[in-house]
Amino acid sequence: MSGGANVAGVDDPGGRASAIGLDRVWMIYHTREAETAALAQMSLEVAPQEFVAVVGPSGCGKSTVLSLVAGLIKPTSGSVEVCGETVTGPSGHVGYMLQQDCLYEWRTILGNALLGLEVQRAVTRESVAVVRRMLNAYGLGEFENHYPCHLSGGMRQRAALVRTLATRPDVLLLDEPLSALDYQTRLEVSEDLYRIMRAEGLTVLMVTHDISEAIAMSDRVLVMSRRPGRIKSSHKINLTCERQTPIGRREAPEFRAYFNAIWKELTADGHAVGSAPAIART
Ligand SMILES: Nc1ncnc2c1ncn2[C@@H]1O[C@H](COP(=O)(O)OP(=O)(O)OP(=O)(O)O)[C@@H](O)[C@H]1O
Ligand SMILES: [Mg+2]
Repeated sequence: MSGGANVAGVDDPGGRASAIGLDRVWMIYHTREAETAALAQMSLEVAPQEFVAVVGPSGCGKSTVLSLVAGLIKPTSGSVEVCGETVTGPSGHVGYMLQQDCLYEWRTILGNALLGLEVQRAVTRESVAVVRRMLNAYGLGEFENHYPCHLSGGMRQRAALVRTLATRPDVLLLDEPLSALDYQTRLEVSEDLYRIMRAEGLTVLMVTHDISEAIAMSDRVLVMSRRPGRIKSSHKINLTCERQTPIGRREAPEFRAYFNAIWKELTADGHAVGSAPAIART
């Protein structure tokens, strides 16, 4: 565990070129009423195929970081890179999945899953076959002609994931992807997500309010300070357990120590994270 603040919050992604890089980013939002500094001198690096979770107090700039990486907004200063290229706008390198599944209710599951490809004008016989194979692999094959209202919350979230993965992104951004689900479904979908991410060899940056979920799913947990946000500390997660899945990883003897260290960081400046419990829920 590497608790404690590190210089400028930058981690060495192991000598490899990073998949995501933020270098001394300031993000200041301007509205007619106010100027809000969301991020201050924020730096971070994520290595290819690394799964990094970000936790931090509400309003500290977590979604802002994802929007910058997705190219939806431009930093006030500093630079943002994805796969070695400066981000100047949305690109095919990045898939972005939000808390709400954002499925269109009037489209079938297959229709929803093809949406990203349609936007990219990349619907071909082959790409449709790939999407149908993914729907099958993720347990949605029989539901491809059903409408979202016929699916459970977990199935809807998997359909949204297929839609995001259909465009073959290298980097996946997840903004509290499981928080709309009940606890049991959340655990089940986290198993699916984890398996899929690892199988696809994706680089993942996931925002969550749930410390246990962050530890159970990721290679590294970054803790952000209160707004204006920056990386306060980085915790490399090494868990000794037989089953390297989110549920199996919760059984690891080191789990609780990671939880307590991250909880302490989060509450150090008088701010608790979202709805996280005061003790590890494994
Ligand atoms: N488009 C915007 N215009 C003005 N201010 C904004 C805008 N988007 C975000 N902010 C402000 O920037 C700060 C960071 O917002 P952000 O949504 O990134 O936080 P967050 O960490 O994702 O919060 P939460 O945990 O509640 O989702 C907040 O104070 C927010 O009010
Ligand atoms: Mg947010």
